[in-house]
Amino acid sequence: MFSDGFQLGEQAMSGGQFPEVKVLLSREDIARRVRELAAAISRDYQGKEPLLVGILKGSWVFLADLVRELTVPVFIDFITVASYGASTESSGVVKIVMDLKTPIENRDVLVVEDILDTGLTLQYIVRHLQLRHPRSLKLCVLLDKPDRHKVPIKPDYLGFVVPNRFVVGYGVDFAERFRHLPFVGYIEQSGGEDGGGED
Ligand code: IMP
Ligand code: MG
Repeated sequence: MFSDGFQLGEQAMSGGQFPEVKVLLSREDIARRVRELAAAISRDYQGKEPLLVGILKGSWVFLADLVRELTVPVFIDFITVASYGASTESSGVVKIVMDLKTPIENRDVLVVEDILDTGLTLQYIVRHLQLRHPRSLKLCVLLDKPDRHKVPIKPDYLGFVVPNRFVVGYGVDFAERFRHLPFVGYIEQSGGEDGGGED
């Protein structure tokens, strides 16, 4: 049961368990902030044609909304990473499951990520991309939990600071569930299910 009236089909939850998802950021909150981020990006990249690199899977909803608010032309590519770790904690061991199709040497690259937790995933991706000598490399992150960072990392564009809760929705999953929710919420009850897998 979702506090805004959203309900998940029973068949969608194994064992008939309905974890409670509380709304943290409504779709209106998100839409407003995405427009602001897009305005800042459009201003900063005026006269350029940046390559937006979405980190799959978590960033796809955010990226889709963001690009439609931009006033500069962009290219889009994706990188799929998987992090392995127990439960809802990132292990920092990141595997590139699918790499970029686009060469990025001398390109203005803007990495678009759903959520920054320990920062280990993004740090790995940044190092991986820097080796290819982009002209510039910036980070656009929808959600950040700054208290959880284990490495020094600061997004150039940030949507929202969120509390140290496990959040879901708007592309972000728990064990592949909840990505379709139009809002960002947090789960009241989180079982021992492995939340690892594709980001
Ligand atoms: P980090 O490496 O600890 O910064 O974790 C980054 C990745 O872990 C994100 O791209 C997400 O896929 C996942 N993650 C971190 N926190 C959450 C959360 O609260 N909900 C869902 N996924 C999360
Ligand atoms: Mg994930």
